[in-house]
Amino acid sequence: MNTDTGSHIPTGPTARRPVQARQLSARVVSTAQVMPGVYLLWLWAPYITELCTPGQFVMVRCGGGLEPLLRRPLSIHRTASEEQIALLFSVVGRGTFLLSQQPEGGEVDLLGPLGNGFSLDSGSRRVLLIAGGMGIAPLVFLADEAARRGLEVVLLMGAATADCLYPGSLLPSSVTVVKATEDGSAGRRGQVTDVIDGPAGQADQVFACGPMSMYQAMIARESLRGRSVQVSLEVAMACGLGACYGCSIKTRKGLRQVCRDGPVFELEDLF
Ligand code: FES
Repeated sequence: MNTDTGSHIPTGPTARRPVQARQLSARVVSTAQVMPGVYLLWLWAPYITELCTPGQFVMVRCGGGLEPLLRRPLSIHRTASEEQIALLFSVVGRGTFLLSQQPEGGEVDLLGPLGNGFSLDSGSRRVLLIAGGMGIAPLVFLADEAARRGLEVVLLMGAATADCLYPGSLLPSSVTVVKATEDGSAGRRGQVTDVIDGPAGQADQVFACGPMSMYQAMIARESLRGRSVQVSLEVAMACGLGACYGCSIKTRKGLRQVCRDGPVFELEDLF
């Protein structure tokens, strides 16, 4: 059951896509721990499922009362049955701990869908996705969409150790996965950026999500130089609506708000 309050959020003057976010209460369908300290939360949210695109996010009220006060921005991990969205998050504080404890049938207050996500070109045949750690969160939705269109998808996943890698069993079966771990416990030993060059040369489009250090390493890769690379930024947000300027970043094109102008940007605009 979706108890939509129907409060529309006004469209911002610089938004690239009309904002259609709503505040709504979404029923918890299931919660499961899929990696150490990482949870997959399925929510019944038909309004968001219908409108959202890969790379967009929701602002989540993690507790039932005033604490924690601020909502948390979480990427839309994937959708299912045209009525459900999934959120993938790691427990890093009180808010995400409370969210991980939500019982089946509980209600979670959401605001979304928000932001400008990834753009998948109609002419693309092969796409490369690069996930650093929890950067996998928005990329699975993109992998789902690319697989649905019949595209070849190569996903590079990097993590500290094998048990911190997203389970391959949850990915579309057509996706080719290349792994890299810092301790060598799965795939190649090293960083995910060490395995970019071969797959990048064969891809029509490149997408990534991970820490800023990963983007700094990517900008130095010869195989990515001079081409479009869409990257999703993970930053702290207070409002998620372009009102507080708390998520402003400096880009080559001037100051941008991650919540409203992003969270997806061109890699070369960031440095
Ligand atoms: Fe408030 Fe982006 S989080 S402007």
